[in-house]
Amino acid sequence: MDYLQSINQSSIPQHVAIIMDGNGRWAKQQGEDRIFGHHEGVNSVREIVEACGEIGVKFLTLYAFSTENWNRPKEEVDGLMELLVGTISSETKNLNDKGIRLEAIGDLKSLPETCQNQLQNSIKITSKNNKLTLILALSYSSKWEITNSLKEIGNKIAAGTLSPDEITSELIDSHLNTRLWPNPELMIRTSGERRISNFLLWQLAYAEFYFTDVLWPEFRKNDFFEAIVSYQNRERRFGKTSDQLLTPPSK
Ligand code: IPE
Ligand code: IPE
Ligand code: MG
Repeated sequence: MDYLQSINQSSIPQHVAIIMDGNGRWAKQQGEDRIFGHHEGVNSVREIVEACGEIGVKFLTLYAFSTENWNRPKEEVDGLMELLVGTISSETKNLNDKGIRLEAIGDLKSLPETCQNQLQNSIKITSKNNKLTLILALSYSSKWEITNSLKEIGNKIAAGTLSPDEITSELIDSHLNTRLWPNPELMIRTSGERRISNFLLWQLAYAEFYFTDVLWPEFRKNDFFEAIVSYQNRERRFGKTSDQLLTPPSK
């Protein structure tokens, strides 16, 4: 089935977040090393970025490397970092030509210096673009992010520039790495795992979750459009009843 035709153009999510999972298992199925799967996964990234542009998604956050992923074998970590530098470097022109802005969240200082430099360079080159913002979560974990934001808030209180009474949900939002962007309405995870793995715990509070068994290197535009159609068929109640959503509030 061609899912693009079933998409309702008037309710496209502004922000989609994806846990790109299953590269290692896919490679194993092909009788290859895990790193082969990561390389292949770059093609899926290209496809999905393009798909977002086609339907008008404005923000796409991709979980590319978690804080916990540092615990993988050194060979795999090194391979992933190399792939990251190479891909960002070779894709920057393409991103720029398509009006895509690159951003990153996470403990970027923990990345190898070549990686940090390439990332900063591409972020700068694409900073004027506004068709789509592509946010890479790198050395990212939500607990790391929330812990840091609490430290910042604590420091302001200790310095006397903030009172505990001023702590609101919005204030916490404004101390997160994601402060500039709306929260994702849709979170997709590939590879059949049904967990969140320390990704955007705060920001996904009211997101719709979509899980698919497709492994990331095989995830294509039509799979993405299927997720969008699924999202569009959900009733987002935000704590209200279905009836309340149908009836405008009486004065
Ligand atoms: C996701 O694929 C990519 C990263 C975590 C970097 P995996 O490498 O986790 O693949 P599986 O889950 O082992 O198949
Ligand atoms: C989550 O995938 C992180 C990324 C996709 C970058 P993992 O494969 O690391 O997650 P777990 O450990 O299986 O939960
Ligand atoms: Mg995995």
